[in-house]
Amino acid sequence: MREIAVFGGSSHPELTAEICAHLQVPQRPVLLKRFANDCLEVQLQSNCRERDVYVIQSLVRPVQENLVELLLMADAARGASAARVSAVIPHYAYARSDKKDAPRISIGGRLVADLLVTAGVDRVLTLNLHSPQVHGFFSVPVDHLHALRELAAHFRQRDLSNAVVVSPDLGYAKSAAAFARRLGLPVAAGAKERMSDTEVRIAAIIGDVAGRDVIVLDDEISRGTTVFELLDRLREQGARSVAVACTHGLFADNALDKLAASDVTEIVCTNSAPLETEHSKLTVLSVAPALAEAISRIHNGESVSSLFDH
Ligand code: R5P
Repeated sequence: MREIAVFGGSSHPELTAEICAHLQVPQRPVLLKRFANDCLEVQLQSNCRERDVYVIQSLVRPVQENLVELLLMADAARGASAARVSAVIPHYAYARSDKKDAPRISIGGRLVADLLVTAGVDRVLTLNLHSPQVHGFFSVPVDHLHALRELAAHFRQRDLSNAVVVSPDLGYAKSAAAFARRLGLPVAAGAKERMSDTEVRIAAIIGDVAGRDVIVLDDEISRGTTVFELLDRLREQGARSVAVACTHGLFADNALDKLAASDVTEIVCTNSAPLETEHSKLTVLSVAPALAEAISRIHNGESVSSLFDH
C-alpha cells in the first residue's frame, strides 16, 4: 500500500489539522512564498514520490489567492512524482457560477474544474456543491459528500414533534426532502427567484408551515439575503419558530450577527469554511471525521458512496 501524504493550504489550517488527527497521519509542511511581483510559489516540504497525495484547500475568502495556492500545490505534487493527487475542497466557491443565465458571462465552476485538472489533480473530494451538475464539470472522479448526516444528528436532539423542513428554493428541495426523510419530517419549499447577488424574492412557500417549528435547510448562507427573505414569508404564514441550518456557513457582510439578532432559535452550519466569529445561537458541526473517513476509503480503494448513503 502506498503511503498517504496530506498537505494543507492556508485557507483552513484547523480543518486540515483535524482531518490529519482523524486519519492519524502527520500534516506535511508547505512553504508558501510571495515574490516582489506578487506571484506565489509553493514548496511541499515532504517527499511525494509514489505517495497518495491529498491537498486540502477550502475555496473561501480570499478565493482567488486560495485557488492559486491549491493549483500550485497540485502542480508541485505532480512535479514531485506523486502517484496520485487528490484535491480535498470542502467548499468549492466557484460552484455558484454554474450556468449561462445572462449573455456573455463566464462559467467559473467549469473553468476552475479544468484548471485543477490541468494543474495535476487526479480526483476531487468535496462537500455539498451548490448544484449537482457541477459534479459533471470535472473530467476526473469526484467524491461529492453532503453533511445531511451531521445536520440530522444535531436536530435529532431537538423536539421534532411539530417540525417541518423548509428549503428556500425548489433547486435545493430534493436535498431538503432527503434531510426531512432522515428525521421523519414533512418538507416545504420556497419559490425563490434571485435578481442579483444581493437581492432575492420568495413569492410563496409551497407546503404547510403555519404553527410549525421550521428547520430551514440550505447549502450555504452567504450574505443571508435568502434566509432573511424566507424568514419574512415564514412569519407571514404563521410559523411558530425557525431554526436555520446549512453546510457552508460563509456569513459575508456580518450575516451571522444579523441572523443571530433576529428571532431564529438557532443557526447550525459545518466547519467547511473557517469562521471568524462565534455566537451563542451558532453551532458548528465538524465535517473532519467524514472527510477523513472518505480519504481513508479512497486511499484503500473502498466505496465512499456506501458510507454516506445512510
Ligand atoms: C442559492 O441558490 C443558494 O442555495 C443559497 O441560498 C445562497 O447561495 C445563499 O446566499 P445568500 O445568503 O447571500 O442569499
